[in-house]
Amino acid sequence: MINKKENRLQFHIVPPHGLLNDPNGLSYFNGKHHVFYQWNQNGTTHQNKSWGHVSSEDFIKWETHPPALEPGDWFDKDGCYSGSAVIDQEKMYLFYTGNVRNERGERESYQCLATSEDGIHFIKQGPILEQPKGYTAHVRDPKVWQDETGLWNMVLGAQTLKEKGTALLYQSNNLIDWNLVKDIGETLPSMGYMWECPDFITLEDDQVFLYCPQGSEIDRQPNENLYQSGYIIRNVLEDDTCKQQSSKFQKVDYGFEFYAPQTYQDSTNRTILYGWLGLMDPEVEKTFPSVKDGYIHALTIPRLLEVVRGKLIQKPLPELKKLRTEESLIYENRQEIDLQLPTLQNEIECHWKKIENVQIHIRKEVELSYDAVKQEITITRTNWKTQMIEKRIAQLDQPMHHLQIFMEHSSLEFFVNEGEKVFSMRYVAEESEKGFQIKQIGTRNNTITIWPLQTIDGILS
Ligand code: FRU
Repeated sequence: MINKKENRLQFHIVPPHGLLNDPNGLSYFNGKHHVFYQWNQNGTTHQNKSWGHVSSEDFIKWETHPPALEPGDWFDKDGCYSGSAVIDQEKMYLFYTGNVRNERGERESYQCLATSEDGIHFIKQGPILEQPKGYTAHVRDPKVWQDETGLWNMVLGAQTLKEKGTALLYQSNNLIDWNLVKDIGETLPSMGYMWECPDFITLEDDQVFLYCPQGSEIDRQPNENLYQSGYIIRNVLEDDTCKQQSSKFQKVDYGFEFYAPQTYQDSTNRTILYGWLGLMDPEVEKTFPSVKDGYIHALTIPRLLEVVRGKLIQKPLPELKKLRTEESLIYENRQEIDLQLPTLQNEIECHWKKIENVQIHIRKEVELSYDAVKQEITITRTNWKTQMIEKRIAQLDQPMHHLQIFMEHSSLEFFVNEGEKVFSMRYVAEESEKGFQIKQIGTRNNTITIWPLQTIDGILS
């Protein structure tokens, strides 16, 4: 079934049909950014995962390729699960987890390799790792990178026999033979029963370990996201904890559905992140409006990463400015604005010199409010299934002075203070829901700019 055109997200990666989940294999190869994603081609449930594939030179125009990996071999017969890509000697290497249910209905996981000369057609090379001893079959999502000495590293999500979440570090000189060198979880606070989608990045002098602990209640407010997705700033590859700065687990995104982020470096060494938008409670997922049109979920917009004062800073990728049309609306030094936006797709940017409280009302049922005394942002929305008002709250490190909102028919992404905190969410608007109100108390020198965004007519058609 093909998506109903008018409801398709226009500048997000969405599946042509079926269910999309994690971003996979993010890479830059032969002049193009490659984005793969977990894809059930046959329905909107979590089964039969293959790797969907798109590529782009500019993040605006995307080309759809045939699925890169599809389940069917003995080592991946029930799904080609998440993983990553690296480029070596003009070849693309995909590392992924083969998901197998054996005759007794038990899970088996195989860490597999597939290679490609052209970045479009892949040859499966089969499993490359043994099941590690001391861990359950919940071992998946290999993320591979090369360090400055040329050594290849892999982090793998895992679960100990005592059902504690962890990540394993493997190393290799040739991408084929791998040695297990470290259980990363042994040096970090215990969190949940399984860690999914680990990732490790170096941003100038900082090392960042990202992971998605399932079942962790740490810092979890009632009715929060099903599983967390966060990071710790620390070189978890090294053992010397005395030298390490201590950093606590921090969320990557403070909104609703965000999960399973993955990063990669492009040809200019920028580190770019995509996340899945995203993880929902299974009962809520079944009733997401696009399910009746035969498809569900999207990736977030791409974000550019840096670390500033012990925090991951995430900004919308500058290339997205090319989506702006010329008919911008600019409001200066206004206490209140109340308008109907020209379209459902907009970027809105607010600058404030000094503010007390701000209340922004978007569409019928989304509200962002800022409390200057507590230096706190609260975002609420009405859930499409339960009709309950859901809330997310986050404290800012500095007073709010900047806000950038990317909105589409059924998604909203808020970047606060040039990327200090990000909130993402799904929210399905009716065609007529174009209302945007802002009330600013005690603000001076404010500028609000609204750009209607281009219609690209579907990234994946
Ligand atoms: C995270 C995840 C991964 C797994 C994939 C399966 O959302 O559960 O751990 O590889 O999705 O689609």
